[in-house]
Amino acid sequence: MDIGTTLTRFLIEQQRHLPGATGTFTALLEEIAIAAKIVGREVNKAGLAKTMGLTGRTNIHGEAVQALDDFANWTIIRALDHTGLLAAMASEEMEEVFPIPEHHPRGPYVLVFDPVDGSSNIDVNVSIGTIFSIYRCADPEHPQVSDFLRRGREQLCAGYVIDSYSPILVYTTGSGVHGFTLDPTIGEFLLSHEDLQIPTQATIYSVNEARSPTWDPRVRGYVDGLKGTGRSARYIGSLVADFHRNLLKGGIFLYPAEVRAPNGKLRLVYEANPLAFIIEQAGGSASTGHTRILDVRPESLHERVPLVIGSPQDVAEFEAALRAPQEQQV
Ligand code: AHG
Ligand code: MN
Ligand code: MN
Repeated sequence: MDIGTTLTRFLIEQQRHLPGATGTFTALLEEIAIAAKIVGREVNKAGLAKTMGLTGRTNIHGEAVQALDDFANWTIIRALDHTGLLAAMASEEMEEVFPIPEHHPRGPYVLVFDPVDGSSNIDVNVSIGTIFSIYRCADPEHPQVSDFLRRGREQLCAGYVIDSYSPILVYTTGSGVHGFTLDPTIGEFLLSHEDLQIPTQATIYSVNEARSPTWDPRVRGYVDGLKGTGRSARYIGSLVADFHRNLLKGGIFLYPAEVRAPNGKLRLVYEANPLAFIIEQAGGSASTGHTRILDVRPESLHERVPLVIGSPQDVAEFEAALRAPQEQQV
């Protein structure tokens, strides 16, 4: 009986079309998939296990660190630190870069990730996920934070895993966007969404409207203009889950700049950039409202960026709204 195409088989087949491909991404993505399955197992029993609740600590962003944030962070590090494929890792939950320890071989890439995106949803059984991105390392013997402060257009690979009743891993290496759904009976991610393309126009918009008093009036005008157009409002509070639904159905996700937070809330390096690489490969767009996300040069590992991402027509309309003169509030 044909079980379908496993992630490994698909990666090997893809590798054949990539000149000079060495199989490194195959090994990296396989290890990431294993880490994701381990995290997913904890998520599935989080309600019963110790991996729920708060650690009592706050991270560099001043946000409460959930036990699962910590667990997922170190699960990913332990899954990849011995592979000889990476020189260093960085994550939302670590202030500094984590160089691969001397007793492990180093490799030519660096991995940056958000171990649990949507942490506030862990204890209410709403979908959460892991977002990751891979860059080349300039000097694997001396990895630097500068290896992570690359423009998003320099990414070699980006992806995410969503922990839901049907876990899915989605990735791109620049040759389209492909989704793999976990078959729990065999513990394998099987190809379920080959060459995903986002619908040109959104049918859904995702934004936390409670924040609207803090927005530029033109943003408020744009969002108000979406109402009564037949679109649906959907907001899960896990970027990766909102993103994935919009990718499949056509949608626009917005976390705009705010009066007191001109760079918005979401992080450029391990939230906006990986999803921007994916959405452009799927025919969509990702912007700060003024600039293509993949062209923004990060100044620091944890910097934030306003994000509007999804169907290309809607992102273009948002950017046009922000170009209107301030006094002519849209
Ligand atoms: P994280 O859990 O990694 O900190 O990310 C949470 C982010 C993102 O997942 C989500 O879209 C956004 O925070 C929700 O923010 P609000 O609760 O302010 O809407
Ligand atoms: Mn996040
Ligand atoms: Mn997170």
